[in-house]
Amino acid sequence: MAIKGPKGTHDIIFNDINKWHTIESKLTDLMEVYDYQEIRTPIFESTELFLRGVGDTTDIVDKEMYTFQDKGDRSITLRPEGTASVARAFIEHSGFNEVLPSKFYYIGPMFRYSRPQTGRFRQFHQFGVEVIGSINPYLDGEVLEMMMKIFTSLGIKNLNLEINSVGCPKCRPLHKEILKDYLKLYFNELCPTCQGRYEKNPLRIFDCKNTKCQEIINNGPYITDNLCNECNEHFEEVKKYLAMSKVEYVLNKKMVRGLDYYTKTAFEITAGREGAQSSIGGGGRYDGLIEELGGPSLPGIGFAIGLERVVLTMEEQSLFDNLIRIRKKVYVANVSEDNIDAAVKLVQNLRNLGIVAIYDIMTRKLKGQFKYANKINADYVITIGDDEVKNNVYQLKNMNTGEQIVCSYDELIKNLGGE
Ligand code: HAM
Repeated sequence: MAIKGPKGTHDIIFNDINKWHTIESKLTDLMEVYDYQEIRTPIFESTELFLRGVGDTTDIVDKEMYTFQDKGDRSITLRPEGTASVARAFIEHSGFNEVLPSKFYYIGPMFRYSRPQTGRFRQFHQFGVEVIGSINPYLDGEVLEMMMKIFTSLGIKNLNLEINSVGCPKCRPLHKEILKDYLKLYFNELCPTCQGRYEKNPLRIFDCKNTKCQEIINNGPYITDNLCNECNEHFEEVKKYLAMSKVEYVLNKKMVRGLDYYTKTAFEITAGREGAQSSIGGGGRYDGLIEELGGPSLPGIGFAIGLERVVLTMEEQSLFDNLIRIRKKVYVANVSEDNIDAAVKLVQNLRNLGIVAIYDIMTRKLKGQFKYANKINADYVITIGDDEVKNNVYQLKNMNTGEQIVCSYDELIKNLGGE
């Protein structure tokens, strides 16, 4: 029996790869404009990095990590996200001695063990950015504006950006106490999971799907209403930048995000897809993470976009038809085996001019070669037979219009858009 790919993984194969290339080239172009540098970190790290970085009360660390002992008996985890790895690399390579802020971006696979469904995979790909070294609220604004530009430049519609401030180590403990005082009144009505969350991390009750828990938490106090002055002022400045840049958003006081490192600004974005897997990107500030991982006290902010969800959304919104930039394809057909060498030489010349060119390597008859050219959507077919070789001319057929001409080499190149 044939072996299948593991559950929750997928291959990017045949024409689908064009979609990914389209998105990736847009992303890297934009990163150049905003002056971000690519960073590549390993796809596995010490498990401890995620325990300390992402937080052991989160679903990601608690239930979703691919963790194993390697042959040297070290606990290793396939990265479930990119922020902790970037922070680790920044500290390890003394990024704090370089000019700040450090502005990174990454594209690569992430791994989370959860039940696969549309838009949710066990191996998925994120595009992410991380900026380390600035607390300036205008940076939050810029990062948000940049994330929105990524989506709009891909043509994505129905975007909905939700933002919140989740406070800092100064105001959050106070808020937790206020929240716990309120929740105590309803403790017995909470589901068992949320009863556990009550002590460890009551803010996570916002993530519960249980309608009773939702009702209780929705009527309770919100962190945004208990922010300290510093967090409040910071958030106001972020909103000012967004207004100035005409970035539309909705304030979602319930949003807490599923990772523990967030402080102050947090955000999430959807694009009209329904259901639990609707978020196409999310991020926020993490002003305590670098220090938590053993570095100096430096603030950070970033986001990650789920590329599978971007592809799905773009398919649903029929956006690839306009975007995929396929270069003109030329197929060089030979009338008989005697003309193959001439065909090969022509293909080599065309390729040297940057023209996409292919010839028959399946020893097909001329009719079969035309069929093949049609199947691969060739824009032109050049036919080479004895007469053409003898007279140094080319039969050129435009496969889109059906028009056919006999021309010289120079005319041929001109017709194919070469110099
Ligand atoms: P996250 O919200 O866990 O944040 O993930 C970001 C995005 O990755 C999600 O919005 C979603 O599009 C995609 N994603 C997550 N899990 C899956 C999955 N199982 N299958 C498909 N797509 C998925 C983070 O990962 C943070 N590191 C973002 C960040 C960067 N915060 C600050 N800097």
